[in-house]
Amino acid sequence: VKQETPPALQFLDAAIAEAREADLFRPRHPPHRLDLVPFCSNDYLGLASRPAPTAPSGAGASRLVCGERPVHRDLEAAAAHLTGQQSALVFTSGYAANIGVLVALAGPDDLIVSDTLNHASLIDGARLSRARVRVVPHLDLPAVEEALRGPRAGRAFVVTESYFSMDADSPDLGALRKLCDRYGAALCVDEAHALGVFGPGGAGLCAEAGVQPDVLIGTFGKSFGAGGAFVAGCSALTTWLWNRARSFVFSTGLSPALAAAALEGVRAAQREPALRKAVIEHAARLRARFAALGARVLGHGHVVPWVVGEPRAALRAAAILADHGVDVRAIRPPSVPPGTSRLRFTVSAALREADIERAARGVAAAMATGIGCPPG
Ligand SMILES: Cc1ncc(COP(=O)(O)O)c(C=O)c1O
Repeated sequence: VKQETPPALQFLDAAIAEAREADLFRPRHPPHRLDLVPFCSNDYLGLASRPAPTAPSGAGASRLVCGERPVHRDLEAAAAHLTGQQSALVFTSGYAANIGVLVALAGPDDLIVSDTLNHASLIDGARLSRARVRVVPHLDLPAVEEALRGPRAGRAFVVTESYFSMDADSPDLGALRKLCDRYGAALCVDEAHALGVFGPGGAGLCAEAGVQPDVLIGTFGKSFGAGGAFVAGCSALTTWLWNRARSFVFSTGLSPALAAAALEGVRAAQREPALRKAVIEHAARLRARFAALGARVLGHGHVVPWVVGEPRAALRAAAILADHGVDVRAIRPPSVPPGTSRLRFTVSAALREADIERAARGVAAAMATGIGCPPG
């Protein structure tokens, strides 16, 4: 249907034109460039392309009404077991989980201390909770302590990711745990990008650090190759969320088919340690190749961000990489701060050594045009 933008929505045409002008427009891509090697998905273990088990497609209602299926319980038991927590509750996405948990736990008298690079879903959950939010500089422990030390009427929650997927870095979880204990705050850790890759059996960075968070969030849409997410902790937490997490209560339960795929993903991640080993080895190789070229890459692990500066340079670099057969996306503001646009290479167990060489050749070609090189 050919349709003009109605007058009341014409401000959108102007806003879209402005985004294009600033190189910040996000076009809709064709579904999947099958001709390119993917360095941009979060399917770290290569499980997303495995056929899913057959199971009913829909829950038909909220879990609280009549949407509860045995596979939801099985998936929750597997998530709790993986993360070493007493209990878990499955949500339809990580976005819904983060909004649900923060709104259910925090209220107007409370304080949320939130890392400035936390994912949008954590930011939105904190805002929706109507708690006082203190945004602290990235990984800044003294700033967290200062926020906790100040006067407050209610409870306090320290909210962080365990592996920040735009910068590939991690907080000192042990130190955060100690700070939370000292000031009576709850530690809430989003392990979205760490589960399946880091920690014993892919149990995540909290498990690797020997830290028990009060609230642990994980998603099944990344390493576990399916969709949906969970919040894990003590059984009082999940009982409360069942009652009060609005994004859980007022939403159709996770599709049983997706829950079955997620359960298979968690089991495969635990059963096949070779997948984890492959991701870690590929990432180390890619990082070494980039370092040899003098490319400025950040952090550690399976996400390899190459900072090139301005959005235009990132778009140009992505196009050069595509010419080399590599699918990697330009990450620009507002996803990252201005001046730090980057290509974010994500590594999967499904890659081959030749793919990594291809990426290195593409980065070398982009650098030969001056992209990502210090001025002068
Ligand atoms: C840290 C973090 N939390 C939560 C989410 C949302 O998870 P989901 O894709 O399952 O909605 C993402 C990314 O999508 C994320 O990076």
